[in-house]
Amino acid sequence: MRIYEAKDYQEMSRKAANILSAQVILKPDSVLGLATGSTPIGMYDQLVEWYKKGDLDFSKVKTVNLDEYKGLTHDNDQSYYYFMHEHLFDRVNIDPANTNVPDGTEEDPEKECARYEKLIESMGGVDIQLLGIGHNGHIGFNEPDSTFAKTTHCVDLAESTIEANKRFFASVDDVPRQAYTMGIGTIMKAKKILLIVNGESKADAVAKAFFGPVTPEVPASILQFHSDVVVIGDSAALSKIPR
Ligand code: PGA
Repeated sequence: MRIYEAKDYQEMSRKAANILSAQVILKPDSVLGLATGSTPIGMYDQLVEWYKKGDLDFSKVKTVNLDEYKGLTHDNDQSYYYFMHEHLFDRVNIDPANTNVPDGTEEDPEKECARYEKLIESMGGVDIQLLGIGHNGHIGFNEPDSTFAKTTHCVDLAESTIEANKRFFASVDDVPRQAYTMGIGTIMKAKKILLIVNGESKADAVAKAFFGPVTPEVPASILQFHSDVVVIGDSAALSKIPR
């Protein structure tokens, strides 16, 4: 695992965009595993800027997103489908047919999770998976648990996640209670992992995940066992790691 320190959010975003663009330049038909949340917005903005300058071409890129709220339709501005179109897909020359987000409107979890897992396999696996990290150490919507979930599954969101995400909804009651997410096993199969994190409030999660014991109580800790992980954190997020 390599940990790079960035001085602030902007630098974190630019460094992360550098790695994703290198991936796309070296392998134009890469399968990118993408993530939502507030952390990657700056990185997507940077990629769009480079695309507009003519430095990046997404025409052959394929994407699979980590997760989606169950029950939200594509036109709901809090769905991750909507987020991805707003922040990246509608701003670059990616073929919408090559983009994939778990279908939150599919009511049958078994059907949707099996479909998604098969889809990733049929694409040849993920070349690079982008991740954020939750305050409780979650990755995707893999919440602290007694075991590591292997494949794409439907989760009940932790109260702390509902609390953290309520800022995006009119009220806490509007936050969906369930989501579809790639499993820890799905994430670990990605050839490379790029985790980005910023802010003091994540410093404990970062220290526990990358310097504590590997445990499903801190889902991101499993990344210590992946052979190709890059973590880019701003100084605040890295303020509690051992030096
Ligand atoms: P955030 O979410 O980027 O909105 O902080 C990250 C996560 O929960 O994985």
